[in-house]
Formats: sequence, C-alpha cells, structure tokens
Amino acid sequence: MARKARITPIIPLKVTGTGSFLPQKTLTNDDLAGFLDTSDEWIRTRTGIRSRHLLEPGEIPSRMGVVASQRALAMAGKKPAEVDLFLVATNVPEEPIPGTAPHVALELGLRRTPFADITAGCAGFVYALSLAGAWLQAGLARTALVLGTEALSRFVDWSDRSTCVLFGDGAGAVVLERRTEGSGILGVALRGDPTKLDLLRIEAGGVRLPASGETVQAKKHFLKMEGKGLFRAAVGMMAEATRAAAAQAGIDLTDIHWLIPHQANLRIIDALVKRLKIPEERVVVNIDRVANTSTASIPIALDELVRAGKIEDGQILALTAFGAGACYGTVILRW
Ligand code: ACO
Repeated sequence: MARKARITPIIPLKVTGTGSFLPQKTLTNDDLAGFLDTSDEWIRTRTGIRSRHLLEPGEIPSRMGVVASQRALAMAGKKPAEVDLFLVATNVPEEPIPGTAPHVALELGLRRTPFADITAGCAGFVYALSLAGAWLQAGLARTALVLGTEALSRFVDWSDRSTCVLFGDGAGAVVLERRTEGSGILGVALRGDPTKLDLLRIEAGGVRLPASGETVQAKKHFLKMEGKGLFRAAVGMMAEATRAAAAQAGIDLTDIHWLIPHQANLRIIDALVKRLKIPEERVVVNIDRVANTSTASIPIALDELVRAGKIEDGQILALTAFGAGACYGTVILRW
C-alpha cells in the first residue's frame, strides 16, 4: 500500500455517480424447477445462483437503462444536458436499428449528446468505460455517462436448462467526470480472441443468417453456449488481463481493495480469486441474487458497493470481465 501515493492515473477521472435497476419480478431456482428438469441444488452448486430478476412480458428493456442512468446522474448531481458522451454496453439491442442508446437517450432527454452502443460481449462495460475515459482525457468530453443494460431473458430458450437458468435482466450506470489528478484509471488491458467466437452466439437475425421461418423453427434466434469451453477460457482470460492491467498501473495484486468480476458463475469467480490470490473479503459477489446480467453485471455490483458505503477515496478497484467474441479485459481504477 505504501506505493499507492506515487501512482498517477493514466486517465484522471472521478466516478461521481452510480446507479442500477433490477426488474421487480424474480424467478427462483425452485420456480425454474417447476417447469424445467432441474433443481435448486444443481443450479446452486454448479453456478452459485439462487434467484434472478426478469423483465415482465411487455416491459421495454430500455426502461431499465433509463432508471439506472437517472439514479447515477442524481448521485452525481448532474442534469442530462450536462452529459457530453453517452455509451451503452449491450449485446441485445432494443431494435437491430437504431440499437439501444437512442431509445435510452430519448427518455433521458439528451438532445445533442453523442451516443453509441458498444458490443463486446459481457466485457462491453469495461470496454465502454475505458473508451469514455479516453474521450475525457482527450478533452472531447467533460462528463460521460456509461451504461450496461441487458435483457438476455428475451433471447434464451426457456426450454433449454443448460442456458436459461444462468441469466437475469438488469442495468447499471456510472457518471464519469474529467479530473486532472488524483483518482482515475490506473491501468487497462482489453483483449479479443476471435478463435473463440463459437463459444457463445445467437446465430440468426443478422446479415449472415437473416430471420426466416426456418431459423425460428430451428431456434437459431436463441443464445447458444458452449458452457464448458467458456468455463475453461474464462479464468485464464480474466487472470491474464488483470495481471497485465496491474502491471501497467504499477501496482501489485495485493494493492487491490475491491475486485469486481463479471458475475457469470461463482465457480469461475472462486477459481479466478484463487489464481490471483486475492482475499475473499475483497471480492464483490452478487450472482446469488442477480445471476448473469452480462454487461450490467459489473456496474450493478459497483453501485451496490457504493450505496453500501464500502468504497473509500483512494482505494483501488479492479473490474474484470469476459464474454462473447471472445472479448475480455480489466480496468483498474483508483476511487
Ligand atoms: N439442471 C440440471 N442439470 C443440468 C442443467 C440444469 N440446469 N444444465 C445442464 N445440466 C446437465 C447436463 O445436461 C449434463 O447432463 P449429462 O451429463 O447427462 O449430459 C450435466 O448437467 C453436466 O453438464 P455440464 O455442462 O458438464 O455442467 P457444468 O458443470 O459444466 O456446468 C455450466 C454447466 C454451469 C453452464 C458451466 O459450464 C458454466 O458456468 N460455464 C460458463 C458459462 C458462462 O460463463 N457463460 C456466460 C459467459 S459470457 C456471458 O456472460 C454472456
């Protein structure tokens, strides 16, 4: 810890607001066992998940993003008009064109702010965070809003027990403000391994395989996952990125006060923590209540930590994720 004071952020900024939203409806493992050949015991011991929040049929996914963003802006004391960059990390757009960002921007009342969706699997939030940070550092924006919002419940096959039990819906957002010193991003390691693109996909609905009666019949609009392959790859990817980001930051792994990993599977998190030798009490886990909310998982966990008053100024956070693509990476922040 003695070295902490010397470390200068590569991107000075301050997270001045966080916010999250989880739909009201919950589905427990026992609820799932009511219509699937599964059990609470199987799901809990294989994944750590006990329950998940799901959008009701007819609810609009962008609504989650609007509420999470409003909560983050309220904490930051910022009006929407003061946001000069809005990035949305998501894998399942509100509509294929124009995506999710304009729908959320419209509801937030943003009228001139540049907005864009970022698609980088479940690593979308750490990608978007570092891109927004680079904009701030370059002087292209003073205040950025970064949102992760996901409604994967709309894209899983509810008769496929190997995927549908894993996911939940939700949104999380952060407000970033430019600073000249002190807090900020200390290190970034983003990676992509396209040789692993088969591990997680929705094959149909794009240009390669447009929607047709046959694609619907063959269930090709649902998320397909090679769970074992992802499991094997995930730990190595997040460990490597976290070590690289820490090296760039000039910190030791022991300097990390809070590790916020993507919440995909508790066994993946446990293996990662063991490999990085980070004490359990410094690892943020909410997968039991929230399940895998993809791009929303890190900002939701961060918001819960902030609102619980657990983060102190000067502490070092490592945010690490992996997902479809395969995209993965770690951002190290000083609060
Ligand atoms: N309930 C009961 N049995 C099940 C269930 C279920 N929900 N799902 C699978 N099974 C069965 C399988 O059919 C299989 O049965 P079989 O042996 O008769 O064929 C058996 O359980 C074992 O299945 P495995 O796939 O070997 O189970 P595993 O221990 O690998 O766990 C899991 C599966 C939980 C999916 C795990 O591989 C995993 O978590 N992988 C990573 C997933 C991941 O990270 N996904 C997200 C990444 S990116 C993103 O976040 C969008």
